Amino acid sequence: MVFTNSSVKNNYFSAISTKNIVQSAYSIIRRVCDKIIIENIATTSDKFEKDGFFMLSDSGKFNIAAAQSGGPTAAINASLAGVFRRAAQCPEIGRIYGSINGIEGMINGDLVPLDSILTSDYDVELMKKTPSTVLGSCRYKLAEYDPKDSKTEAEYMKIIETFKEYDIKAFFYIGGNDSMDTVLKLDRYCKAVGCDVKIIGVPKTIDNDLPGTDHTPGFGSAAKYVATTLQEIIRDSRVYSIQSITIVEIMGRNAGWLTASSCVLRANGEPAPHLIYVPEAFPNGFDMEEFLADVGRMMKRYRAVIIAVSEGIVPNERQYVKTGADAFGHTDNSGVAKYLEHRCAERFGCKVRSIELNVMQRCSAHIASLTDLNEAEQIGAAAVECALNGNSGRMMGFRRISSEPYRIEIVSFDVSETANKEKYFPANWISADKSDVTTDALNYFLPLIQGEVQTEYRNGIPVHFRLNQ
Ligand code: F6P
Repeated sequence: MVFTNSSVKNNYFSAISTKNIVQSAYSIIRRVCDKIIIENIATTSDKFEKDGFFMLSDSGKFNIAAAQSGGPTAAINASLAGVFRRAAQCPEIGRIYGSINGIEGMINGDLVPLDSILTSDYDVELMKKTPSTVLGSCRYKLAEYDPKDSKTEAEYMKIIETFKEYDIKAFFYIGGNDSMDTVLKLDRYCKAVGCDVKIIGVPKTIDNDLPGTDHTPGFGSAAKYVATTLQEIIRDSRVYSIQSITIVEIMGRNAGWLTASSCVLRANGEPAPHLIYVPEAFPNGFDMEEFLADVGRMMKRYRAVIIAVSEGIVPNERQYVKTGADAFGHTDNSGVAKYLEHRCAERFGCKVRSIELNVMQRCSAHIASLTDLNEAEQIGAAAVECALNGNSGRMMGFRRISSEPYRIEIVSFDVSETANKEKYFPANWISADKSDVTTDALNYFLPLIQGEVQTEYRNGIPVHFRLNQ
């Protein structure tokens, strides 16, 4: 553990009220016991330095809230379980709320008491293994707060009202790069107006594109699903004696991590996918003639050619256009495999099929990575520790100590380092001919997909946790 901010330490000993002495004692114990968090403790605002951490209400307790945001994953509920389980152990935390549909729930005062809903460890464990977001999600962009423009403050004031109404002193936002924009803005606003609520970001995304963390919860399970499904597609594609091309489109937006992760099949001696295309290899557009030449080359070697293509690939042909945009300006990416299918069929005249793995790759739990789910839970728990240690405006992350044996530690850093930023697949992990990835990539991916989750079945179907909303 590294504690760097002496003013934070001094603050413990300047606490004068009995309540503060009690809560300081808890904090010290937590720090001594804490084995997983290494962090540069954020400088707290003047207000916090004066008041100390987490002023306890008259009941001697304060409440917390968590929310989920952005695209679903198989592990985002595991992080919620981590926040819940750790918070439930803290004597100073009273109620644990869930905000419905991410930050929208905080704006609209739409909260559910998770501690009344998750009444047994079975419930929490079932939620941990349930894919997607039990609290719902959003792609909501908060306005940039400008103290000179009262219109920009309206939503923040509603959120502060919700904090006050529910006596919430810490808010955990589980999400990706856009969601970290919300963490950053809300933390800045709270500090600007002297609101003593700790705002902590918990990462998640199947895209694995968050800077500052070795990988993101949700990615390992998506990678395991992609590899497993690709292997099944490979088995299917080889049944006929005729030549065929199968193009599998994989999510990831502008980052090729998930597509590249299909290389893990090589660890079991599988040569396919024969071609792997990530957007980072084509900063000037995806050259269709080079692509068709690659395919032609592979057709000479393999009867059933398998291609993994990232949804972020943009063919440099005029007729290829992307449409739609969400609140953060992201276009609707799907469809590139279908486009490539038509171009291959025109050129080669053989059987060509395109498969878009679509939402299944981010919400399939039956083939989730145990490593991913356990890490997702641990990072949720660490986020609670981070807030209890007096931090705000931080995102939790993983630092890889080694790949073999696989060892990581949980860290936290200023959320401005990651909000609205993307971490791309490394250029030096892309092969020289731009149609494959290197063994460094394989070594990076393999630990993240290890372990299988025990799924409970009822009537032959996996049992999911559902909120009664
Ligand atoms: O960010 C996660 C992600 O699943 C991307 O891989 C994908 O491009 C995007 O979300 C899809 O967005 P939506 O959930 O709005 O369809």
